[in-house]
Amino acid sequence: MSAPSYAIPGSAAPVADRRTPGAADEPREDRTAGARSVAEVLEGSQVESVLQELDRDLIGLVPVKARIHDIAALLVIDKLRVNLGLTSQAPSLHMCFSGNPGTGKTTVANRMAQILHRLGFVRKGHLVSVTRDDLVGQYIGHTAPKTKEVLKRAMGGVLFIDEAYYLYRPENERDYGQEAIEILLQVMENQRDDLVVILAGYKDRMDTFFQSNPGMSSRIAHHLDFPDYAVDELLHIADLTLATQNYRFGAGAKEAFQQYLGLRVQQPHFANARSVRNALDRARLRQASRLFADRQRVLNADDLTTIEVADIRGSRVFQKS
Ligand SMILES: Nc1ncnc2c1ncn2[C@@H]1O[C@H](COP(=O)(O)OP(=O)(O)OP(=O)(O)O)[C@@H](O)[C@H]1O
Ligand SMILES: [Mg+2]
Repeated sequence: MSAPSYAIPGSAAPVADRRTPGAADEPREDRTAGARSVAEVLEGSQVESVLQELDRDLIGLVPVKARIHDIAALLVIDKLRVNLGLTSQAPSLHMCFSGNPGTGKTTVANRMAQILHRLGFVRKGHLVSVTRDDLVGQYIGHTAPKTKEVLKRAMGGVLFIDEAYYLYRPENERDYGQEAIEILLQVMENQRDDLVVILAGYKDRMDTFFQSNPGMSSRIAHHLDFPDYAVDELLHIADLTLATQNYRFGAGAKEAFQQYLGLRVQQPHFANARSVRNALDRARLRQASRLFADRQRVLNADDLTTIEVADIRGSRVFQKS
């Protein structure tokens, strides 16, 4: 029996010649076509500004940023090789982002999609984020259409599969996840000039998933590990988050938040930068309640933007300890 074909309609045909756009329904943005130097590719693609924003906007993540720079370099050199006719095969760009919750995987995947788009490796540069439930059906015959629909939406961009290991459930012999995996594998191979897949999840579970799915493992070209943030990085993220929302820590509040983090990281369900965000949301709620209680007071900009020590200390995390 020959393997069924899963070409996704409306997507670029799996053709080899990368110098002639036109197979796709949307022209491939490529302002690097004649480039002969790295500088020309960078200028044509404007990719450097994405890298600079990544370095500037994201706190910490030093190893991840270094890997993104390496991948960008590889892509730029590939452009130059294509321009000299030295390469015709699209490079394999599928990736795995492993790390604990809230370590920035989705955020970095969005930046990666921008980089790929600016360099013309994908036509649109959007990111479609899914989990098992978006790909796998409940009944026989439901999975293939679901998976293909998602692939169709993601074509020309990045398909981000969060907690990808849930696709594989060996304990259930008839699990439909396997069907989704097989469709993905084929598209990852045949349409890799138009779709980049990023699998994300906890490192240990990703490792186990790859051990049981060598086909998937062999198609992943880049593995990026997202480390947990240190408390000083989380504090830095808190400062940045507040600033973008037009808030700031008042006298002593940052120290209180540092203590909060010291306690919070030891508790269950700690989710790095996401927990910082959630904690600050609750601090803003407490600030609002505090200000609300004082009906007659005229509130100035300072009052309205300042998170006080009490707004932090009101957290349950302090009461428990
Ligand atoms: N290094 C960072 N600097 C600043 N903000 C960050 C950083 N990392 C993450 N954040 C912020 O924290 C939040 C969670 O990040 P993100 O969703 O990218 O993490 P994730 O690893 O995908 O998490 P999850 O596993 O929970 O989906 C986002 O609002 C993001 O902007
Ligand atoms: Mg995420």
